[in-house]
Amino acid sequence: MRDLNENTLTDEVIARFKNCENPRVKQISEALVRHLHAFVREIEPTQQEWESAIAFLTHTGHMCDDKRQEFILLSDTLGVSMLVDAINHRMPEGVTETTVLGPFYVENAHQFPLGADITQNIEGTPMLIQGTVRSQNGSPIPNAHINIWQSDGEGFYDVQHLDSLALRGQFHADENGNFSCWTLRPSAYPIPDDGPVGNMLRAQGRHPYRPAHVHFMIQAPGHQKLVTHVFADGDKYLDSDVVFGVKNSLIRNFELHEPGTAPDGKEMDKPYAYLRYDFTLKAV
Ligand SMILES: [Fe+2]
Repeated sequence: MRDLNENTLTDEVIARFKNCENPRVKQISEALVRHLHAFVREIEPTQQEWESAIAFLTHTGHMCDDKRQEFILLSDTLGVSMLVDAINHRMPEGVTETTVLGPFYVENAHQFPLGADITQNIEGTPMLIQGTVRSQNGSPIPNAHINIWQSDGEGFYDVQHLDSLALRGQFHADENGNFSCWTLRPSAYPIPDDGPVGNMLRAQGRHPYRPAHVHFMIQAPGHQKLVTHVFADGDKYLDSDVVFGVKNSLIRNFELHEPGTAPDGKEMDKPYAYLRYDFTLKAV
């Protein structure tokens, strides 16, 4: 084919995939070209705008390293991560809802015994987290594996400004599926907005904030891995989370308590917060 024009180009590009042996690769390639060409036809970019788009993607790649994942931020802020999450987690009623993994998960966080303090001496309002992990049928899951990670009271994750890990840890539930730990009350935070995704948000007239939350990843044999957050009730960004991750069933009161005996029996000489959330995993 020669003399291709704006009316014939798309079909010719798709025709080039005719010898593709992997049906999934063929399906994805065809859809990619169809939608990408439709997008270009709709917006009719100038040559300069096309160059800006290439520069934007190049800059996004250059921002990525082992601590910064600008492409996940881009996916998150365009709602793609939540769409992929929704498609892959069409959960039955009663199972804890999922939300995005986010860019701050770290594999191999420290293992802690139940009830441990994971603050690593970071200042803030102490917060006790307690919960039970259950299966869909209501029975507790002994020894369920729980990963917790969160920001501090200023809205920063350890990997953003510390040389060591903090406010994250791995636990195993007890024989009744119960777990607990001491951490800090997290605050709302802006996603890192000093890169191309931040520039995009400003150009779109959007703020970069996420409502305060704690991340959980929970796994147990015979169950689907659960990746979710629990959000702080009353947070002003619940309805405008920059990554679209909030679900009503995942909102809880991060209750503030006066000094006294905490629910785990610990004597607190300063005010503290308490979060309780029970998780239900989908059996597979
Ligand atoms: Fe987060």
